[in-house]
Amino acid sequence: MSVARLLRGLHADGRPVPLDEHLHLHGPLPGRLARASLLDAVEESGLCGRGGAAFPTALKLRAVAGRRGRKVVLANGVEGEPASGKDKVLLRHVPHLVLDGVEVAAAAVGADEAVVAVSRAASGELAVLQQALGERGRSSRVEIEVVAVPDRFVAGEETALVNAVSGGPPRPTATPPRPFERGIGGRPTLVQNVETLAQLALIARRGPAWFREVGTRREPGSALVTLSGAVGLPGVYEVPLGTSLRELVEEAGGATQPPRAVLVGGYFGSWLDAGTAFDSAVGEASLGAAGAMLGAGAIVVLPEGSCALAEVARVSRFLADESAGQCGPCVHGLDAIAGATASLLQVEGFDADLRIRRWLEQVHGRGGCRHPDGAARFIGSALDVFADEVALHMRGGRCSGRDLWLLPVQQRRERRAA
Ligand SMILES: Cc1cc2nc3c(=O)[nH]c(=O)nc-3n(C[C@H](O)[C@H](O)[C@H](O)COP(=O)(O)O)c2cc1C
Ligand code: SF4
Repeated sequence: MSVARLLRGLHADGRPVPLDEHLHLHGPLPGRLARASLLDAVEESGLCGRGGAAFPTALKLRAVAGRRGRKVVLANGVEGEPASGKDKVLLRHVPHLVLDGVEVAAAAVGADEAVVAVSRAASGELAVLQQALGERGRSSRVEIEVVAVPDRFVAGEETALVNAVSGGPPRPTATPPRPFERGIGGRPTLVQNVETLAQLALIARRGPAWFREVGTRREPGSALVTLSGAVGLPGVYEVPLGTSLRELVEEAGGATQPPRAVLVGGYFGSWLDAGTAFDSAVGEASLGAAGAMLGAGAIVVLPEGSCALAEVARVSRFLADESAGQCGPCVHGLDAIAGATASLLQVEGFDADLRIRRWLEQVHGRGGCRHPDGAARFIGSALDVFADEVALHMRGGRCSGRDLWLLPVQQRRERRAA
């Protein structure tokens, strides 16, 4: 069921695939990357962004290509989502595929410079990329710089990333202008997730028909998912879009304990009860029908016997602390919501759930970026899916579950400094 397109030829010992081996595996990029035919190929492929919003890549490329002035490509490899590891896998194991994607994107929009952004916490990826750039030497058609930005959840938001790589704080700015209009150095900037870029590197070599050989008609191609929680073999998997979650979990060694619920789409995603989740497929069409979204592909299986509210309260606090501190509803609203979510665990909470729901409505759509919306989706879906547990806690009882720490949060060293 899983496929090896992006993840082809990975070394089991974790060594990055060197340039000569990369060329042997995938062949060289076409000598001439003509802009018009590249744009057409990407459009025909139906590729959508893999950074979370699933925006059609061809539309974004055309928007930047159509701007006047010098353009720049910004590869988004910061992956601030703690439940996701796919971008780190690409950067660490197949850096040349990402760098090829940067070259292809630059050719498609007419850019001569590019920046690959990684998190400062990811020193391994930084070193691998520097080494890969060294291997490519002067053969690169674009000037590529690697920049490490503060390790913050919001740093991967495109306007925050433009700020951060320009030496400013990793905080979103008001839009418009969007980076495609005015980004790094005021220049039209293509911000693209590193998985999206790696997919571009394959489409440029093999064409859109090959890309569409897997996946569904509406959602073609493969995607990386980071599967964790109560599964036998947690990790990053490459699957055709449209693969059922049940099959995916089976391939990952099956559930290690009876599953209770599944978090789909990471900390901006939604909880689904296990039955609904396992009957869904990887992709926005199927998950959207179930009220969820794939986002950046982080999927966590929560087993029976775990305390869901403890997991949810911890992540709610993390998301509140990760606010970039600029918009009132985000700063104060998420903090109050995180406090009320934690109180569900400790005291007889009377109508704490109703209060949380009211506040969630009040923060939704009220931030300068989509951070509060994602947090509201995560917490609101938890109140729905774990309604029994919420009711039990509010009646003063305690669930018999344990906090298994299946949803990690980082203690950010740089949190206060950034
Ligand atoms: C709070 C927040 C955090 C984000 N973090 C990331 C991230 O870590 N990596 C990423 O690629 N996109 C992230 N995004 C999405 C980016 O803004 C942007 O849409 C994406 O990089 C575009 O690439 P794509 O079209 O290839 O998906 C984030 C968005 C928000 C609102
Ligand atoms: S909504 Fe939150 S994270 Fe987004 S810009 Fe405002 S304060 Fe920053």
